[in-house]
Amino acid sequence: MADKTRFPVRVAPSILAADFACLGAEIGAIDAAGADWIHVDVMDGHFVPNLTIGPSVVKALRPHSAKPFDVHLMISPVDPMIDAFVDAGASVLTVHPEAGPHLHRTLQRIKSHKVLAGIALNPASPLSLVEPVLDLVDLVLVMSVNPGFGGQGFIESALPRIAQLRRMIDLTGRDIVLEVDGGITPDTAPSVVAAGADMLVAGTAAFRGGPGQYANNISALKAIGR
Ligand code: DX5
Ligand code: ZN
Repeated sequence: MADKTRFPVRVAPSILAADFACLGAEIGAIDAAGADWIHVDVMDGHFVPNLTIGPSVVKALRPHSAKPFDVHLMISPVDPMIDAFVDAGASVLTVHPEAGPHLHRTLQRIKSHKVLAGIALNPASPLSLVEPVLDLVDLVLVMSVNPGFGGQGFIESALPRIAQLRRMIDLTGRDIVLEVDGGITPDTAPSVVAAGADMLVAGTAAFRGGPGQYANNISALKAIGR
């Protein structure tokens, strides 16, 4: 089990659960409430069965927070859109290995822009997909739901996968973020953190109750592991 004291838990609220009618204000509010990163879910209605936002919206939102924009690309093909999301202000670009034929090239392209590169693993994606590119990535994202929608239940089989990835990351000696996304709540977060995660994506649990509750919601997640 991971030494929790080594990993102050950070929280990346997913704006998928925000009020889309006022996304700029929502990002300002969740930033002020203690968000570490702003998680932006980009879906294409093809790689995943839902459609969200593109680079022009990310660009419009960028001035509403100084925090890193953690852009989770659930689109295929992904390569043609990388430059546009960098231009829009992404700080981290995370891709799924199944979203293109040449994962190494995709990660090289992200890194060429001097932004952080992440790889996301669906619940059924083998961890071995990470091994050949671990030296290139700054972040590994473990999906604990099938991507496409917020508000789904946490898939427990993610836990041993998080623990295994923690070991793989520690062996590199590099500072690679281990992020978990899907069904994170104050109930599920303790086991996720105990398994070795250091960045929690939370949509429903972060935005629940409206802006007056955001600070409490984030505190409840950050308190875990302390
Ligand atoms: C799912 C997205 C998640 C989602 C999480 O495809 O990648 O980021 O917004 O939402 P919750 O926290 O509600 O499961
Ligand atoms: Zn996400």
